[in-house]
Amino acid sequence: MPRNCVNVAVLVSGGGTNLQALIDAENSGIIKSGKIKLVISNKADAYALERAKKASIKTAVVSKSELGQNGMEEKITDLLTENKIDIIVLAGFMCILTADFTKKYDKRIINVHPSLIPSFCGEGFYGLRVHEAALKKGVKVTGATVHFVNEIPDGGEIILQKAVTIPENSTPESLQKRVMKLAEWKILPRALELVSNNILKEGK
Ligand code: GRF
Repeated sequence: MPRNCVNVAVLVSGGGTNLQALIDAENSGIIKSGKIKLVISNKADAYALERAKKASIKTAVVSKSELGQNGMEEKITDLLTENKIDIIVLAGFMCILTADFTKKYDKRIINVHPSLIPSFCGEGFYGLRVHEAALKKGVKVTGATVHFVNEIPDGGEIILQKAVTIPENSTPESLQKRVMKLAEWKILPRALELVSNNILKEGK
């Protein structure tokens, strides 16, 4: 029988506002082709884990400092297999995944990045640093990008982008909030629905 939903895992490290946007989008029906089954954090104290628990989603902590890169990736792989996960969303996950890992999930991992790729992306561009670089350059428009994840940091195929204007007197903090609210929280759920729906249509 054809499936009507794919299983989604969300990988997090911090506050989890993007995870919250996904949970809310699932509840409101914006996401209907995917179901969040598992939230994995590399930090035991990530507030994102509380958000998952409140939404009755299974959680796991996989610590890179305890297990090392290979051990962490092995444990994540085991969890994904055990929970029959089809799609992995990186939502503020602060660990780089190796090519060995990303190759196993070709076109099955998506990430949200807080700039319009190819600007202000790649190694070293994370968190506030992205917005600091945009302000330093003096660009008038920035935004967010959801893309597939491959072995090149922020280098995979682009799925969705949304532009955001930069008001005068912006700070990295104010710009981060603006980009999240106006772009990231909107395009991440839409991109997850798109990718999930394509997988269902292809019958994979
Ligand atoms: C977001 O800005 C996201 O683009 C970046 O990390 C931040 C995560 O925030 N990759 P949150 O944990 O979803 O609140």
